[in-house]
Amino acid sequence: MKRVPLALLLAAGAAFAQPPAPERNAATQRDYQATLQRLGLRQADLRPGVDGFNRSAPNAVNRDEAAVGTVAPLPPLLVDAAGRPVTNAGAWRRRRREIMELFDREMYGRVPATAPAIHWELERVENRQLGGVALVTRHYIGHAATSGLDQPPIDMQLTLDMPEHVQRRVPVILELGFPEGFRFPGPPRPQPPGPTGRELVLQRGWGFAVLVPWTVQADDGAGLREGVIGYATHGGPRPNDSWGALRAWAWGADRAYDLLALDPHVDARRIAIEGLSRYGKAALVAMAYDERFSLGFIGSSGAGGAKLLRRNFGETIGNLAASGEYHWFAPNFLRYDGPLRTEDLPVDAHSLIALAAPRPLFIGAGNFEEDVWVDPRGSWEAARAASPVYRLLGVPGLVGDTYPAIGETRAEGRIAFRQHEGGHTNGPNWPAFLDFAARVWAERR
Ligand code: GCU
Repeated sequence: MKRVPLALLLAAGAAFAQPPAPERNAATQRDYQATLQRLGLRQADLRPGVDGFNRSAPNAVNRDEAAVGTVAPLPPLLVDAAGRPVTNAGAWRRRRREIMELFDREMYGRVPATAPAIHWELERVENRQLGGVALVTRHYIGHAATSGLDQPPIDMQLTLDMPEHVQRRVPVILELGFPEGFRFPGPPRPQPPGPTGRELVLQRGWGFAVLVPWTVQADDGAGLREGVIGYATHGGPRPNDSWGALRAWAWGADRAYDLLALDPHVDARRIAIEGLSRYGKAALVAMAYDERFSLGFIGSSGAGGAKLLRRNFGETIGNLAASGEYHWFAPNFLRYDGPLRTEDLPVDAHSLIALAAPRPLFIGAGNFEEDVWVDPRGSWEAARAASPVYRLLGVPGLVGDTYPAIGETRAEGRIAFRQHEGGHTNGPNWPAFLDFAARVWAERR
């Protein structure tokens, strides 16, 4: 499975800028156990996740559509907490706040009032060529505007590539991703032929920005006492309804938006957020919470992202709640891996997608063999289940009743879906995404 090396590599990437693994792992385990204790849970209360590596393991990941079984009823979107039907845009605004509160409390966690104000500093400016385009690259560092002695330093890393000769304000794609030139340890990986997503964006005359998520918040439990999460608690433990890394990365994207919107070349009404895998999850969280993003490109986001957790296919909540991934979520989320069940969650991926409505989303994944872990079909089903909210707001959501073929773009409505022929990457979906972006942004102007 190609997924496996990528996941390992991403973990290696996270560890890249950090101290040696054994100590860090031990610190993660300590935080994990302390988190369970604060929740009143024992390790034995939690159901283990599925095994994506060993196909003959008793808990091998389900990759068989026929074995999915009945999906438990999804929490309603268009009925409010008091049981009243939601039948107009005003009622949806109120319902939307209820759903955000559920995500805050039970899944992604709240942004504390003590989160830092960020001051962006222009570090350097570079003129260069990329993909045949002359451009200006601005390198920014984001610091906490104030910092106490017991607060960890913050150095958020953001770059903005702009074609050199822009005459008017242009759209920007903001990626949650790796810094340019970043190399995973090990032998170099071959680059697929043709222009990269970044080059395609620049060739359209648009801007391309990258925020490096691990400079906002480290990608492990050990890092919870550092980064913006550690800053907000002065290095102390997280309250059970407090943010995890996904919400922190999405918050970082909001701070990046603050800066981009001030740039005289940027059209603040046309800033998209994009990411792959764990960063695809964070991109969807950013879209859900921050209405300033007018478009999202959500790649292979899987469990904890666009895929329905109630669907037994690919990664499960047991994986998300284990020590390698629990830090992505509010501590409270762990309770749904025991004693509570997935079906007890008052939200699912369709609720998250609905929070983005009526703004356009492009949801992508790779082929079933190589990207099985993310359950591509589970995100198509979630998008369909979110579509009544789009319709209520006067636009079509995901259009079409039949599951699209690999390589087919479903983009008639405001939610586009495309499963490309490759593996766990956004690469082959870039051209279809950019055509979608051009169309939905043209409608907006
Ligand atoms: C692991 C993890 C996924 C995640 C992925 C990634 O596979 O289980 O939830 O999306 O890493 O970020 O590559």
